[in-house]
Amino acid sequence: MQNMASYNVIHLVIWLTFLSLVQLPMRSHCADPGPLQDFCVADLNSPVLVNGFPCKNPANVTSNDFFFDGLQKLGTVFDALNVNLTEVDVFAFPALNTLGMSMNRVQFHPGGENPPHIHPRATELSLVTEGKLFVGWVSTAYTLNWKILTAGQVFVIPPGLVHFQLNVGKGNALFYAFFNSQNPGISKIAPALFASTPLIPDPVLTTAFNVNKTIIDLIKSRASVLIP
Ligand SMILES: *[C@@H]1O[C@H](CO)[C@@H](O)[C@H](O)[C@H]1NC(C)=O
Ligand SMILES: *[C@@H]1O[C@H](CO)[C@@H](O)[C@H](O)[C@H]1NC(C)=O
Ligand SMILES: *[C@@H]1O[C@H](CO)[C@@H](O)[C@H](O)[C@H]1NC(C)=O
Repeated sequence: MQNMASYNVIHLVIWLTFLSLVQLPMRSHCADPGPLQDFCVADLNSPVLVNGFPCKNPANVTSNDFFFDGLQKLGTVFDALNVNLTEVDVFAFPALNTLGMSMNRVQFHPGGENPPHIHPRATELSLVTEGKLFVGWVSTAYTLNWKILTAGQVFVIPPGLVHFQLNVGKGNALFYAFFNSQNPGISKIAPALFASTPLIPDPVLTTAFNVNKTIIDLIKSRASVLIP
């Protein structure tokens, strides 16, 4: 009886060890790694380069470090898109360092669009609090999943997939995005392809889009307005 019980315990320990070894690398692919201390307020000015940011000396951390009052302030204005974006990531709010989360607020005028983009490091929960927003994302099978959301409704966007939001209401729209990364990153498809530095050569794009150079050059000449 005694032997049987200890055999089972050893078996369990071996299994748990095996599972944790297998899962650790997977976990680091779909979300930020977990913290190894209570907090690690980012020292954004440190010359040390690590994955994330080094910690500010904990002796110098106060309640103010964990407080962010910038959400109602103006973020980045994208006039051409009729949207304003306020990012609350580790750069804006250093206390998020190692905590694995962040958020954005996006304001939309009628017709405003948050154009097709990806977040390479995060899943996104989109919460609409005002107006009427068309939210869509495309799977790797090229299926468009979409909803028209109104206040209080939420859509989830899996990590790394192309997605967008468009204000389809008559008034303004407001939405908040929540991410499981302190630094989800953003890559907008149009400027990534048509306004990179240096530019992607025309032959790459004429083949990719099956159109001629005139059309590619026209898009290139207009895509730079999408970068603030
Ligand atoms: C912590 O704060 C003290 C007093 O303000 C300052 O002298 C010291 O340089 C700070 N240390 C760090 C690591 O920021
Ligand atoms: C963005 O902010 C500017 C400056 O406050 C404001 O004039 C504009 O109406 C805002 N746009 C949206 C879409 O809320
Ligand atoms: C490029 O393609 C467009 C659309 O098919 C066509 O109207 C135009 O004449 C073409 N331009 C050149 C230079 O081939």
